[in-house]
This record gives sequence, C-alpha cells and structure tokens, in this order.
Amino acid sequence: MHNVKRAHSPEVSRRGFLTGFILWVSAAIGAIITVPALGFFVSPANKISTAEKWIDVGKLADVKIKSPTAVTFNIKIKDGWVTSETAQTVFIVREDEKKYIVLSNQCTHLSCKVAWHPDKNEYICPCHNGIYDMEGGNISGPPPRPLDRYKTKLDNGHVFILVKE
Ligand code: FES
Repeated sequence: MHNVKRAHSPEVSRRGFLTGFILWVSAAIGAIITVPALGFFVSPANKISTAEKWIDVGKLADVKIKSPTAVTFNIKIKDGWVTSETAQTVFIVREDEKKYIVLSNQCTHLSCKVAWHPDKNEYICPCHNGIYDMEGGNISGPPPRPLDRYKTKLDNGHVFILVKE
C-alpha cells in the first residue's frame, strides 16, 4: 500500500494564495500612493528651471544712441522649493536708429556688476578691472568672454528681453 501524503492540502494552498494576493494588492496600492507623493516632495530639488519669460525693459526711444542705459527690474527665480525675487540690471545699447542690443551687467569673470563709464566709453568691472567696449566686447583684464547678450524683441516701441525664471 502506498500512502502518499500531500505536502499542501488544497485548503492551505487557497489560503496561501489569498494571503499572497492581498499582500500583493496592498503593496500595489501603497506604491500607487507613495511614489507620486515622494516625487512631489523630492522632484523640485532636482529640477533646474527652464521656464523663460519676456520682460519689458522700457521704450527704445528713451535710449540715446551710443549711450548705454541701465535698466533695473525684479524677477522671480525658482531654485528647488525656494522662489525668491531679485533685482537685475541690463544695459540697452542703441548702435544706430535701428540696431540695438541688451547686455547683462554681470562680469563674465566672477559675476561682479560692471558699470558704464561714458567718459571712457567702456564698461569697467570694479572687482579685477575687467574692461569691455560699448557692445560688451573684451578690451582687457581677466574676463574670459564678452558680456552676455539677451534675446530681444520690439513690441509697440518697447524692448523686451527673454529671461530665465
Ligand atoms: S569679476 Fe569682473 S574682472 Fe573679475
């Protein structure tokens, strides 16, 4: 006579299956709730803002030809969870009746603020004496490249520049 003993009775298997199924469903529900919530809290820290915005920096007609004019405006900058408002200054430069450019006032060496010196026709950086010409080109000193130029557009006589938020 053979007495074969089953390792698992059908009752135990069914119970085991149900328990496993309930655990699996619970884990799936937990993941559905937890993963987006974690993403909500963690992702802003890893995001580099790519948002851009057109800012009105004034009427072109108010700027004299060959006389760079400083314009200061406030902009909101997002850094992770923190949004702060900072003042930025740019120079609107009219080369002639039609041509104009907008330059950043940040020195390309270590980001000090350059100032326009009309008596010398130069922008001078007070930190290490970096010197730029009217169009932002390098004349002398440590700055490795010209002053940054903004993308611009003219709308109803007003100059707009594209800035990162
Ligand atoms: S920061 Fe302008 S020259 Fe160094």
